[in-house]
Amino acid sequence: MAAKSDVIKVQVRNNMETVSLQGQNCDPAEEGSASKRLILRVNGVLHDVKDEDPQMSLAEYLRSVLQLCGTKTMCHEGGCGCCVVVVEYDNPVKSGKRIIKSINSCLFPIGSLLSLKNHHVITVEALGSVKKGLHPIQQRLADYNGSQCGFCSPGFVMQMYGLLKNNATPSSQEVEDNFDGNVCRCTGYRSILDAMKSFEKDSDTRLRRSLIDIEDLKSCPKTCNWSYLDKVASCTDPAGGTTDMLFSKDGIKWYQPTTLTRLYLLMHEHSSEAIKLVHGDTAKGVYKRDGPYEVLIDLKGIPDLYVVTMEPSGLKVSSNISLSSLIGYLKQYSDQSPSYSIIARHLLKVANGPVRNAGGWAGNLMMKWKHRDFVSDVFVAFEVADAKVTISDIANVKTYTLMQFLDVNMQGKILLYVEIPKLAEDEKMNSYKIMPRMQNAHTYVSAGFRAQIRVWGKKQLVEYISMVYTGISKTFIHAVATEKYLQGKDITSNVTLQGALTTLCKEIIPDSRDPLLASAAYRKTLALGLFYKFYLSLLSDDAISPCNRSARYTLERPVSTGKQTFSSIPEEYPLTKPMPKLSAHLQTSGEAQFIDDILPLPHELFAVFVLSTAGNASIGNIDSTVAMTVPGAAAVLKAKDIPGSNTFMPPPNQVEEIFSSGPLLYVGQPIALCVADSQHHARQMVEEVKVTYQDQKPPIVTLDEAIEKKSFYPSPGPGLLVGDPACAISISPCKVEGEIRAGEQYHFHMETQICRCVPTEDGLDVQAASQWLDLTQQAIAGAIGVQVKDISITAKRLGGAYGGKASRANLVACAVAVAATVLHRPVRCMMDLSTNMKAIGKRHSYIFKYKVGFNKDGTLNGIIITYYCDNGSSPNDNEVGESFMFSDNAYKCANWQLIPVALKTNRAAHTWCRAPGSKPNIFVIETILEHVAKFLSMDPIAVKQKNLYARGDTTPMGFLLPYCSIQDLYSSQLRKVDVAGRLQAIKKFNANNRWKKKGLAVVPLKYCMYWSFGCYLCTVSIFASDGSVIVSHGGIESGQGLNTKVAQVCAYVFEISVENVSIKPTTTNTSPNSSATGASITSELNCLGVQNCCKLLRKRMRPVKDKLPPGTPWKDLVAACFKVKVNLTAQDWVWPDPQPRDAPQYNSYGVTVAEADLDVLTGENQINQVDILFDCGESMNPDIDIGQVEGAFVMGMGYWLMEKMIYDPKTGAVLNAGTWDYKPPFSKSIPVNFNIELLKNAPNPMGVLRSKASGEPPQCMSCVTLFAVKRAIEAAREDIGQNTYFPLNGPATVDAIQTNCLVDYQNFSI
Ligand SMILES: Cc1cc2nc3c(=O)[nH]c(=O)nc-3n(C[C@H](O)[C@H](O)[C@H](O)COP(=O)(O)OP(=O)(O)OC[C@H]3O[C@@H](n4cnc5c(N)ncnc54)[C@H](O)[C@@H]3O)c2cc1C
Ligand code: FES
Ligand code: FES
Repeated sequence: MAAKSDVIKVQVRNNMETVSLQGQNCDPAEEGSASKRLILRVNGVLHDVKDEDPQMSLAEYLRSVLQLCGTKTMCHEGGCGCCVVVVEYDNPVKSGKRIIKSINSCLFPIGSLLSLKNHHVITVEALGSVKKGLHPIQQRLADYNGSQCGFCSPGFVMQMYGLLKNNATPSSQEVEDNFDGNVCRCTGYRSILDAMKSFEKDSDTRLRRSLIDIEDLKSCPKTCNWSYLDKVASCTDPAGGTTDMLFSKDGIKWYQPTTLTRLYLLMHEHSSEAIKLVHGDTAKGVYKRDGPYEVLIDLKGIPDLYVVTMEPSGLKVSSNISLSSLIGYLKQYSDQSPSYSIIARHLLKVANGPVRNAGGWAGNLMMKWKHRDFVSDVFVAFEVADAKVTISDIANVKTYTLMQFLDVNMQGKILLYVEIPKLAEDEKMNSYKIMPRMQNAHTYVSAGFRAQIRVWGKKQLVEYISMVYTGISKTFIHAVATEKYLQGKDITSNVTLQGALTTLCKEIIPDSRDPLLASAAYRKTLALGLFYKFYLSLLSDDAISPCNRSARYTLERPVSTGKQTFSSIPEEYPLTKPMPKLSAHLQTSGEAQFIDDILPLPHELFAVFVLSTAGNASIGNIDSTVAMTVPGAAAVLKAKDIPGSNTFMPPPNQVEEIFSSGPLLYVGQPIALCVADSQHHARQMVEEVKVTYQDQKPPIVTLDEAIEKKSFYPSPGPGLLVGDPACAISISPCKVEGEIRAGEQYHFHMETQICRCVPTEDGLDVQAASQWLDLTQQAIAGAIGVQVKDISITAKRLGGAYGGKASRANLVACAVAVAATVLHRPVRCMMDLSTNMKAIGKRHSYIFKYKVGFNKDGTLNGIIITYYCDNGSSPNDNEVGESFMFSDNAYKCANWQLIPVALKTNRAAHTWCRAPGSKPNIFVIETILEHVAKFLSMDPIAVKQKNLYARGDTTPMGFLLPYCSIQDLYSSQLRKVDVAGRLQAIKKFNANNRWKKKGLAVVPLKYCMYWSFGCYLCTVSIFASDGSVIVSHGGIESGQGLNTKVAQVCAYVFEISVENVSIKPTTTNTSPNSSATGASITSELNCLGVQNCCKLLRKRMRPVKDKLPPGTPWKDLVAACFKVKVNLTAQDWVWPDPQPRDAPQYNSYGVTVAEADLDVLTGENQINQVDILFDCGESMNPDIDIGQVEGAFVMGMGYWLMEKMIYDPKTGAVLNAGTWDYKPPFSKSIPVNFNIELLKNAPNPMGVLRSKASGEPPQCMSCVTLFAVKRAIEAAREDIGQNTYFPLNGPATVDAIQTNCLVDYQNFSI
């Protein structure tokens, strides 16, 4: 009957127009049958999924089937959070209670929803829309400027919605903890966190900023009664029924048993087939190639697997309990055993919130069971707590230790429950997880220790100790020899400590074969250091030397905070007004459309690249016969199918092939394109394309190899020679030479490379995520052999770019254009993250070799630097030699020689990345100043100050600095943030703490802005009928706020409201021949172009205006102009002339101070405070400019401290092409105290409307974070008498930092 009443309810709701049933086959007569139960409820609407594969991810279903494109996808592995949705369902064991949680829809299969009673999926669309009204979360995220490109925004909104649904008054800490699964590459997170923290009950008034009427929240108290969501949540269950089998098609069966007996019977019945038990199904985010499976059995419908009891012996937790719930229970029962909060704390470091919400402890243990090298934190936490698992099958129920479990034959068996015993009174336990990033990262080494200590007089004797590790090797779990050694020993003795460490050192033999792992030496020292931490924690304070005490603690991160200081000029509003981006509301509501959100046309095809697995070889054969048998296959396109020229870089660039015609320069090079009726089928085709290789020669993988083998491109230029640096160095009283390195950086735009082409009668209509439409247009025309006029490209917005979509966007654009032309059908291709990371190059990496001569007071005399820059497999986007204007940064020196060398390696061709050239140049000169200071035993802050440019100085490029203010800025910033006082405090702290250190560094900035290489066409049209204005310009809105600034300028000149101005998508039809968007000049120059258009229009309108009464409304003025035939459209072609002697248009200045905390034993570090003073001229929009400063700086922090590309040393293949191993900053990577000041009263006479650029310059100061950490490392080295200079290469990852601290266990003492 239940099913019948469901349907009636649905029909009633249909009449109420709140809910519609799309599945017409849902026959009430089929009560209880499988087909009846195949109904999903999404945003209150029921959908029949009878014909869908239950394995299909919820994200794919939402986007492709329901066309709810507010939910975005990027990584498809649970690592980025842009796909987060909220799921509600009845608590399987607590009647009347609902479970509400955020999950990654990219991992969650739709079949799994059917096991959740009364389930309800809520996506960003349900929360609100610009038309119907925004949800307060959407509103605040936009109004706090927490959205730049907007691609990540819906994920953040839904993650917050999930939190508020469970906890209407979260604390700031809870809000910050909530975002351990969401990446934002644009904003630097501060603004997002502020927006979200404004929901905290006691949030400080600064966060409220009166942006939202508090009444809004009263009518929607913390989301609880928002719109219709709660009403529909009480619908009866569409998922109830009696049949286990939900789906059987194409050899795949999906079952949904509701009792244990049925589960056992099913497992027995299908024992000869490949079975997968499905709980959260998150394991596939880590092990993507597990399977294939024929039988999938969803466990979530079995109530017996949700039981949790607190027994006298401990906590008993069944296997359907998710990690989040387990953490909740452990916290709830923490009074029963101190170990429970320790385990909870450890489990909170597993993955991220949405993964922990879906995934369970049982699935995690099974991953360890299947893949012994899996670095399971659950295993470590359970094993050290002496937990036992109970395993059952149709006949038996047996309990095992975790170690025994690893050897149980699990065929036909399930994990039933785990029992976590209480800690005995005299036992102590702790666990540690050291990871490459504070959040959402797998471990380098995790360790758990549990010991029972007996006090005997003054001695403390070890009764026993359990020492558990992961991350050492496949087989190493217990440090058995050390456990044995310690038994009966007195831990108050240094002899015991050293004995244990020596034993541990011998038995720990880290696996060193996998290049993805941190070095064996690091993991060994780390393992010893973690044991040392625990050992000290067994002793009371007075038993430990004061300087060793802080070794016991891990770095605690307080809730972050920050201050944004700027001025604006109300008389000029809307110019200089701090206001959110015009499209911010559309972005946070999920309505902003990105290319992949465009609904496919009938017959549209989807394409996926086939990448080479060999580099420095050639293709033998490509066999696509089997691929073409995949259902929906349309074509496998190869080089020979290209109608025009096989290059995605138009002349005069060097050829870069779209699909290799034979020669393979690097692993990951595209060799073909599989095209099918769906992306899923295209992906299947790629698996079936068989490629053979020949002529394999040893590839040149590293920069060192390239230098050694002299694998250079033709010299990128003469370099720079000023004065006689060799002589200056030789006659200098002091000289040093050295080498420093800076690695690659993946752009990590959240929208990966994408293009869509639609053949039309005019040629091709293209939607390209390109920063440079003109180049893309030329490339496509060349590739398909037509004229440029036949290609029309539109770019409404990009989901992040950072240089990665300048020239490299052409690869996907050309490939798709070829497919659309050859097949004469619309085709789109959105690269998956792995393809994007493998096929496309990154920020250029460098080795810098330098010599410098200087006086004893630190004054520079002469500098020689050789820049070895890896261009990869093509020099097209070379930057070395073209950015020497940044080499001096803010420092004066009379003699320079700068030598560029462009290296040729078998890697994807590298390309520009935010602040290309400038960032590495500034790093090397900062390093040189640091080196000089160390040589002289001076503070680098003083040495830098000594060498700063003064007003009127000349740079090595020969440019005069008439307005140079860096000396004043430097000293005022040092004063303002009390550098002297803080250095004193740091000195004291470092003297008192052997294993925790602090460091402080300062980096100044002089950044030259050049305009003359940018040209853009801008058009402004006023509509005669109502006076509204449309603008088209040649820049591409990619999150930097370009459109908003342009609208502000237009409104300012016309003296109208910005609401009257609409910025139209950039197209090659309206703004042909425009330059790339980049180098921070695009906002300025398009603002200039639009300003010129508006001025021209005003001039034309002036005579009419003069005849009208003063104060005539704009609308009437426009109508009057139209009447007398005034042309209401103006165009401006902006292409500034170079300044005399090619000098920059102007220079930007800045000073940044950063302070870091370091855990010497682990290398973990935290940037406690950053104070940026940046000269933005008279900011056109301080909200946007502060967002640019923060975003740029945090992206830079990622580069210097976290983001490391890892290549196979033998083949050159990118090994870390995904979120599991590549780590951009997360919300807790940002400075704890992050203060930005835009220099006040600083109009720029050489800028547009007195402003200065903000997109790239601040990133150049981000190396200050590396230097702050370096200061802390130096303090650690000084403790062991190592006081000489050492280089700290970027990225200074946790492992590199600890290695540089020269940690030696023989120095460990009580
Ligand atoms: C982005 C990301 C980050 C992660 N980070 C970490 C991390 O930092 N540390 C860490 O330890 N782990 C990490 N993980 C792993 C994560 O903890 C597991 O994916 C999750 O716990 C698996 O649980 P599940 O319920 O989703 O299992 P599923 O994916 O549903 O199942 C996994 C396996 O377990 C089997 N299985 C499930 N339940 C049972 C049962 N009751 N009895 C027998 N077999 C069963 C399934 O057949 C399957 O083979 C991460 C995962 C992701 C996606
Ligand atoms: S797309 Fe789902 S987490 Fe990245
Ligand atoms: S706004 Fe977050 S990724 Fe662009």
